[in-house]
Amino acid sequence: MKSDIQCLISAGPTREWIDPVRFISNPSSGKMGYALAQSARKLGMEVILVSGPVSLNAPEGVTRIMVETAEEMNDVMLRQFHNSQLTIMSAAVCDHRPKTTLMHKLKKSLQLPHLELVPNPDILENLGKIKKRSQILVGFAAETENHLVNAKAKIEKKNLDWIALNDVSSEDQGFQSDFNTITMLSNDNKKVILEQNTKFFLADKILEIVSA
Ligand code: CTP
Repeated sequence: MKSDIQCLISAGPTREWIDPVRFISNPSSGKMGYALAQSARKLGMEVILVSGPVSLNAPEGVTRIMVETAEEMNDVMLRQFHNSQLTIMSAAVCDHRPKTTLMHKLKKSLQLPHLELVPNPDILENLGKIKKRSQILVGFAAETENHLVNAKAKIEKKNLDWIALNDVSSEDQGFQSDFNTITMLSNDNKKVILEQNTKFFLADKILEIVSA
């Protein structure tokens, strides 16, 4: 049992509001992050799950903090990070948000809107900057091309111990699916291929690998 380990996991998409009824987001279901939270809890870890809007129930025994925007997720993750020995960032954070959120619904009778976007914080990169040697930091890489090269670059750039690489170009796995195929890459060049399986099965394997 790893009951002395505090584990912090992010999951799901973020929502970046344009006006009170419209937002920018992505199709993340949160299934991978919720499966990871369940697996970590099964191992006896104390788990905090920071979740964007999803339609899943919190796994039993897991403390869930709901957020909407990338900025909110950034604040909560930074606040929780210093207590966490193992942090896994599986959320699909929107890289950009509208520069301003309108107070009232945009009317279609007005001229075609020009949507100005500004960058969101890179939450994982922020965590990597303050990470202590005793902390394990794991990211996900959602790639559609040059998978290995891009994932390895993210390990360096975000100061990660491990990255879970998944190909989001295939329709039968990834974002909405119950299945995934993952390649785990470490900062010291370990590579473990996890063949296609359920996200629950893969979550157990990922935790086994990163907490070994
Ligand atoms: N991530 C994050 N904050 C962001 C964007 C991404 O914390 N604003 C995290 C994701 O949760 C994931 C990792 O960074 O763990 C990689 O995310 P990914 O979308 O694959 O890559 P990006 O860093 O956004 O880069 P790019 O879009 O150029 O691939």
